[in-house]
Amino acid sequence: MTDATTARRRERMDEPDDLGPISATPDLMVTRALAFADVSPDDIVYDLGCNDGRVCVAAALERGARSVGIEIDPGACAVARERAARANALLKKDLVRVEEASAFDASASEATVVFSYLLPKGNAKLGAKLLKELKPGSRVVTYLFKMPEETWGEKLTRVESFASSRERAAGGVDSSAFNKLYLYVV
Ligand SMILES: C[S@@+](CC[C@H](N)C(=O)[O-])C[C@H]1O[C@@H](n2cnc3c(N)ncnc32)[C@H](O)[C@@H]1O
Repeated sequence: MTDATTARRRERMDEPDDLGPISATPDLMVTRALAFADVSPDDIVYDLGCNDGRVCVAAALERGARSVGIEIDPGACAVARERAARANALLKKDLVRVEEASAFDASASEATVVFSYLLPKGNAKLGAKLLKELKPGSRVVTYLFKMPEETWGEKLTRVESFASSRERAAGGVDSSAFNKLYLYVV
């Protein structure tokens, strides 16, 4: 992360629409999450707070799905756009779109799958918005942290634990109790 990005993050942390710090889901867990949610070319995948766009790019390259990333940080968004452009060029199809915006100013109503890697506080803020917008049958897959129990608990359909989030950590640096994916169906 550059100094400018770190400074911007500090400034944003107390904003009411802040979803959480810049961090990235390990690539192996992105691949697993897309398989876990059974993402297919019929899906439209949203990542609200997409950082470098890796989830959206993988959704297109690995699963043939259309994807949309929304990111509030201009630096992260620029990286995500570059990655999206490369993926679209490779696929010769505009499957990946990235927008620089607050997730709260963007509608996710067309999404059939939403990916979330946010702290519980971020999931609580996002969860309320998604409940208003998503169509019945839409899936929400979260990495590490759950959606709020009171409003999303009954929509939880599957939980899977993984011993490692990185191939090189197969010896066990990560805790299997913590390294989880959760699947919710609206
Ligand atoms: C933990 S990272 C998740 C990154 C990505 N989804 C992944 O799994 O690799 C959270 C991201 O949300 C972004 N963010 C925070 N508040 C936001 C908001 N209101 N709208 C859009 N993005 C936001 C941060 O800049 C950061 O890139």
